[in-house]
Amino acid sequence: MNDEALRATAAALMAGDKGLLAMDESNPTCNKRFAALGIPQTEVSRRAWRELIVTAPGLADSISGAILYDETIHQQLQGGRTFGHALGDIGIIAGIKVDAGAKALAGHAGELVTEGLDGLRERLEGYAAMGARFAKWRAVITIGVDLPSPACIAVNAHALARYAALCQEAGLVPIVEPEVLMEGAHTLQRCAEVTGQVLHEVLAQLYVQRVVLEGMLLKPNMVLPGLDCAHQDAVDEVADATVTCLLRAVPAAVPGIAFLSGGQSAELASARLNAMHRRFKDRLPWPLTFSFSRAIQQPALDIWRGDASNVQQAQRALLHRAACNRAARRGDYIAAMDIAT
Ligand code: 13P
Repeated sequence: MNDEALRATAAALMAGDKGLLAMDESNPTCNKRFAALGIPQTEVSRRAWRELIVTAPGLADSISGAILYDETIHQQLQGGRTFGHALGDIGIIAGIKVDAGAKALAGHAGELVTEGLDGLRERLEGYAAMGARFAKWRAVITIGVDLPSPACIAVNAHALARYAALCQEAGLVPIVEPEVLMEGAHTLQRCAEVTGQVLHEVLAQLYVQRVVLEGMLLKPNMVLPGLDCAHQDAVDEVADATVTCLLRAVPAAVPGIAFLSGGQSAELASARLNAMHRRFKDRLPWPLTFSFSRAIQQPALDIWRGDASNVQQAQRALLHRAACNRAARRGDYIAAMDIAT
């Protein structure tokens, strides 16, 4: 393992006020989003959608790294280049989702554990040989009555740390993603409590398993009220709760934090990231950016709908969202940026 190379990759992913684009939806997840819009749920459609994304002119102005799915990293664009090469050609670092999905946790109704550790060392070697320089593993934590259980937090934190250690051994920067879900009627305060608990456990496991904090990135949820909570807190309250939680739990040695969007609207995700920068300017020990999937892709997907004649308009929408999020990272996003779309 070369710590310097890991640090350099992590720094490059956080450079230039840019952020990450998650385009690593598993086939079932991608198909679900296609089905909602009447797009054929085929390998051909998934490839065409991802080609639309990586050929959007100027994507690299706002995006430093893109996370691919296994199917995509093995596919080619029209013309024969692989997706990894196409990203490299435009100065975007290729990453790869390596978990095998969240499965029911035995003995714990309603809770999930992310699988995929078996054979991971060999898979990581293969992805590194294909040009990937970072990886992602997503753990899922549900808030509910008596949930999450201590067991659910423990097994997911353990798996995240084992994955992260294997990534660093293979020379890949691990993105450590413990996602506390938005589903539920819980309050912002409850989400803050659970997110804090989860982050403390994850950081403890990373320490136990000798993960080099300087060579990884954290991808947490924002601290939000549940989707069904009667009180939806204002943007500034979300910003304060989120940054307070992260300041308490995440050491300054971590070289970057990049949020998932988790089902927030694209505009709210930008506004909340923006408020964090506006309100905590100069007080953040780590770069704070985005690693969104839905909050960047969805408006463009709604336009594309599988129709080749919509490609350019969809690409414009994608670039617009990426630019809004880059502006948010600087505290320069204003809602008016979204009126033109
Ligand atoms: P969302 O931004 O849609 O939550 O996706 C981020 C991600 O990568 C989930 O693993």
